[in-house]
Amino acid sequence: MEQQMINILINGKEYTVPKGITVLEAARMANIDIPTLCYLKDINEIGACRLCLVEVKGARGLVTACVYPIDRDGTEIHHLRIAEALQRLSGRRRQIQGDQNRNEN
Ligand code: FES
Repeated sequence: MEQQMINILINGKEYTVPKGITVLEAARMANIDIPTLCYLKDINEIGACRLCLVEVKGARGLVTACVYPIDRDGTEIHHLRIAEALQRLSGRRRQIQGDQNRNEN
């Protein structure tokens, strides 16, 4: 049986992927790196650590890329927004730590 293909958007770019694959598999096919921790293909696919969180338009909250199946044509996935937000948060943390260190001296 031939696998049905669907069109999706990841970070605003269109990709054609097999229906039913996970967001992580689709991202890897598109050479987009989504970090994982607990995911081990065919061994541990329980979506426990939540390191691979992405935004899927229409989904309630953030979803775990390693276990979330893409079954709808036109699915929009945003990974960069989360990565950018974490990067900004990390930069802000360093800034606050630097301010605290200066105030202690
Ligand atoms: S890698 Fe752990 S929840 Fe996806």
